[in-house]
Amino acid sequence: MIVSVIAAMAENGVIGVDGDLPWRLPDDMKFFQRMTTGHHVITGRRNYESIPDRFRPLAGRTNVVVTRERAYQAPGALVVHSLEEALQLARDTGETEAFIIGGGQIYAEASRLGVVDRIYLTIVHGEVDGDVYFPDIQEDAWEDAWSEVHPADDRHAYSFTFHRYERIKGSNPDTWVTS
Ligand SMILES: NC(=O)c1ccc[n+]([C@@H]2O[C@H](COP(=O)([O-])OP(=O)(O)OC[C@H]3O[C@@H](n4cnc5c(N)ncnc54)[C@H](OP(=O)(O)O)[C@@H]3O)[C@@H](O)[C@H]2O)c1
Repeated sequence: MIVSVIAAMAENGVIGVDGDLPWRLPDDMKFFQRMTTGHHVITGRRNYESIPDRFRPLAGRTNVVVTRERAYQAPGALVVHSLEEALQLARDTGETEAFIIGGGQIYAEASRLGVVDRIYLTIVHGEVDGDVYFPDIQEDAWEDAWSEVHPADDRHAYSFTFHRYERIKGSNPDTWVTS
């Protein structure tokens, strides 16, 4: 099973503000939907609760919420108590690619565990205020396997670039990001 992270990050590393995304980028949301549909999506409890009620659980995906709260319930989603448990659950169902979809704490945990094979990272071309950050990518551990620029337009206040990074085989998984 491929373990993937998917995120959108400003040039100053910001990914969130006040429990929400710092931008509205519909074509990035479409990309997120296209990549993750049909797969397990693994989310921190706070990120899950930031998704508007009408959109959660995310349709067409197995939603897995990570929380330390033993009694937590999320109707229509699976609840687990560690990232390892979430990944094992996906593996046990024969999943081919599981997506870790944030937020900051869960990305940091993925970094700490060194379990990630692939990162879909949308770099938003601007610096924004925020309170949640993506871990730094250790560039020599990753190959920028694909990228595509999306210009700013009347629906997108920022231009952005999609990247797909693949972990270089043999690189130390513990050093793929610094956090
Ligand atoms: N730009 C992007 O791509 C992107 C993507 C996703 C999210 N975001 C943003 O990120 C922000 C949310 O991120 P966040 O860092 O505040 O929260 P988060 O990572 O979504 O969730 C944190 C929660 O996850 C649970 N958790 C974390 N580590 C755990 C562990 N090791 N074991 C068990 N449970 C664990 C805890 O839940 P309990 O407190 O219930 O125990 C913790 O409070 C929002 O602003 C959101 O919009 C941005």
